[in-house]
Order: sequence, then structure tokens, then C-alpha cells
Amino acid sequence: MRLLRRVLIIAVAVAVLAAGGVATAFTVVWSRAATSTAGKVAFAEPLAIPPLAESRVDAQGRRVFDLTAGEGSHDFGQGRSTPTWGFNGDYLGPTLRAQRGEQVVVNVHNELAEKTTVHWHGMHLPAAMDGGPHQPIATGDTWSPTWRIDQPAATLWYHPHPHGETEKHVYRGLAGMFILDDEAAAVDLPDEYGVDDIPLIVQDKRFTNDGHLNESSPMGSDIGVLGDTVAVNGTVAPYLDVTTERLRLRLLNASTARTYDFGFADDRQFALVGTDGGLLATPYRTSRARLSPGERAEIIVTVRPGEEAVLRSTPPPLGLDAINRRLSGGDDTLDILQLRSADELAPSPEMPDRLVDVPRLDRAEAAQTRTFRLSGRSINGQRMDMDRIDATVLTDSLEIWEVTNAQNTTHNFHVHDVQFQVLTVDGGSPPPELAGWKDTIYLPPDVRFELILRFADYADPDAPYMFHCHILYHEDRGMMGQFVVVEPGQEAGTPDRTHDHDEGPGTGQRTQRGLTR
Ligand code: C2O
Ligand code: CU
Ligand code: CU
Repeated sequence: MRLLRRVLIIAVAVAVLAAGGVATAFTVVWSRAATSTAGKVAFAEPLAIPPLAESRVDAQGRRVFDLTAGEGSHDFGQGRSTPTWGFNGDYLGPTLRAQRGEQVVVNVHNELAEKTTVHWHGMHLPAAMDGGPHQPIATGDTWSPTWRIDQPAATLWYHPHPHGETEKHVYRGLAGMFILDDEAAAVDLPDEYGVDDIPLIVQDKRFTNDGHLNESSPMGSDIGVLGDTVAVNGTVAPYLDVTTERLRLRLLNASTARTYDFGFADDRQFALVGTDGGLLATPYRTSRARLSPGERAEIIVTVRPGEEAVLRSTPPPLGLDAINRRLSGGDDTLDILQLRSADELAPSPEMPDRLVDVPRLDRAEAAQTRTFRLSGRSINGQRMDMDRIDATVLTDSLEIWEVTNAQNTTHNFHVHDVQFQVLTVDGGSPPPELAGWKDTIYLPPDVRFELILRFADYADPDAPYMFHCHILYHEDRGMMGQFVVVEPGQEAGTPDRTHDHDEGPGTGQRTQRGLTR
């Protein structure tokens, strides 16, 4: 009798606790109300345009840039200035710009109180120049990678990649654009930087009551910081004066976690002309461009004289259930930028019907297929290990990578070194926005993507490139792997040991050198 009562009491207690847990989870989810700033942004600040980085040509004919990472403070409209980090300034960095065929050198100097790295996202270059976690720059040091620009015109970007610390470094402001030009494949599109060719580095921020960047992840969140305030090129509530009929907007999602679905408040159509790695073969007319963290899009927008148009992100199609969608910002609407067009507009080039050749990579030439499943903080069940090479690929070969998000939450997939093509999406052909060169793609749950990648050159068995989820909170916690490119007959070597094994949280046990391969 007594025993039965005790069992009953315990059962009731367990039931109450469980119900309480569910209720708490429910409260957490719905207390994180959907954010909507539609119609509520003042658009009172002129949009800042990141300056073009100065450069010089050295005695060997190389184009030389200088970047210094350091601390600063920046006005985000919080009534006081916010402590930030930046390159050559308080927040973000200058736009680097180079021609296809040029040899570039970037002297990266670190004036922060901790080590950082600078990675050239989307760039085809030797792994030792890539700026991943194996190329740390200690406080006070300068790192000077050099490489030849050898890829189509594109909107790339640069940002730190110190293992376990990337989210913090990017969120505090270390990021900039890297625009590549290609005279031989020039297309008549708006191209006057800051006039009708506009870089838009889009980031979401949250602030503490005293105006500092809020770096803590909201309760219940699985993806790190999600902001309620959008900064474009560091400007909160920005407007842009438009003086030409057409504008080229180079959209970069430099947020740490948020996915946007860019469009206009009046749903007007625009032309998507470029994706991560370059221009499309033909413009694609649409009214929305979804960008997950790290992705870029170049769009051409037509305006009428004297009008105001609002660039707005509407709830992005993430393919998630209601709770995960809410927690990932999938219910949010955010006003981004107001375009104010002059009463008289200078003529712009007509939209070309054809842009560039995008030669299709051929499945029949693929040397092998690899499978990548993303789940939790792991890829194929493993977390990042600085000393483990996950894939060894042959130089001058093509591979098919089959990538799936095996979990009902947001992940995306980014590969260093190459621009890839999407062969299939769930067995079908890719939509127009995935028809060009890509280095990062959003992965809705349970959709299988077949990517085709060409590893053209730059064999180096000891220096790995990364592949990872670009939700930086996931990347920092281990959702990353490493591959090396080798010559036929070569084996993967030993990752450069200049890193200091301060590997960040949750990256698993460090393996003993030499015992794991
Ligand atoms: Cu944009 Cu591995 O990074
Ligand atoms: Cu990258
Ligand atoms: Cu992820």
C-alpha cells in the first residue's frame, strides 16, 4: 500500500515535471516572438560605403594591400558608441579589389589582444594562403599570404577563421568584401563602385542596455546570436540616394546565423545576375533571393525617378517545423535599406540577355563520390579535429559530394578553395539561383544535394582546406572538416603545427599525432 502510494507520488511528480518542461520549452519558443521591423525603420542614416582598399604594385609587379585588425568603437545608433573590432578602422574593413591574373599580397597585421586569422572566402588559392585555423596570426604579428587571382569576376569576402572563435571575431566586426574583376569577360552592368555598384554587407545585431554588442545566444537557441537590428555596411537604418536608372547590389550575408530572403517591400522583380563565385550565364528575373550565412548575390534593380523603395527580408523558406523555424529567425521580417531615387536618373546600360559562359562540370568525369551528413555539431558523426584529415583529393580531379542536412534545424555547407556547381537537388535539376558557381549553399532538412567540384591544382599534403557549416556557432563547436589536395601517389601529410591547440570548446579530444592516420 505504502509502496503503491510512493510509486504514484513519484509518477505524478514525474508527469508534472515533464509537463513543466514542455511548458517551459513552449514559453521559451513563443517568448522569442517573431521579429518584424517592417515599416518601423526610420531610414535616417546615409548608407556607409566601405572604402576601396589602397594598394601599390611592388618591384615584382605584385599588388600589395595592408590590413590591420584592431579594436575600435562604432555608432550603431544606440545613443552611445559600441566597442567593436575592425580592419583599418573601427568596424568592418575596406573593400579589396583585384583583376584576374594579378598576383596579390595582403599584409595582415594583428593588433588585437588575441590571435586571429584572415580567410579569403570563395577564393581559389594555395591552402597555406587560405587563412583557415592553421594560419593563426599572433598579437603583434604580420602574415603576408600571396597568390594569383585565377577565377571569374565575383563578389568574395574575407573574415577571421580562428578555430572555436570565428563567431565572436566576425560578430565584433571583422569582415570585408573582396571584389574580383575579369577584363576579358567584361559584361555591361552597372559598375561604378559606390554610385551604381553598391556593396551591401548585411548583419544582424543585438545590443545590451548599455549599448554593447550582445554576444550571448538567446535561451533555447541552437544557432547562436540572432539580432533584432540590421546593420548594412555598419549603418543602422540606412538609406541610399540613387542617381541612375539601375543599380547593382552586391549582397553579402555576413551574419553569423541568420538567413535572409531579400526582396522589395512592393515585391518588384529584379534580375539575379551573380551568385557566390561569379555571374550567371543569363539573368534570372525573380522577386526574392534567399541568402544563408556566407552566401552572396548580385542583383540588378530598376528604379523609377523620385520613388522610395525598401529592400526587405521576408520570412525565409527554411524548410523547418514551426518551433525550429521560430528559433532560427524563420518568422522574421526585417527592413534592410531604403533606396531614394532622384527626380532625374542617369541612363544605365540595358540588361544584357547573356552574361558569361558557365561551363558545366561533367558528372561522367568525376573520379569519386563522397557523402557528407550534417547533424548536431558533426559532419559524418565527427567533430572538427585539427590533426585529422577527413578527405584526400587528387589534384586535377573532379569529385561529386553528396551533402544532406540530416536534422530538423538550419545548416548550410561551405567548401574552401573551389567554386562548385550543384548537379542535383533531391534528384532533380537545380533551380536557376543554384545554376552558377557556388561556394556555400543552404541545406533544408532531408534534401540531398549533389555538388560537383574540380580540384584543379595547388597540391599540398600538409596544408588542409576546410569544409563546414557557415552558421558560425555550429562551425565553432566542431561542425567542420578538413581536406587536402595531393598529387597522384602522394598521401595526406601532417597538418601544419603552428597552431597552438587552443582549439575552442567542444571540439573533442585531441588525437595523438601520428596515431590517427
Ligand atoms: Cu567564410 Cu571557412 O569560411
Ligand atoms: Cu571560406
Ligand atoms: Cu549548422
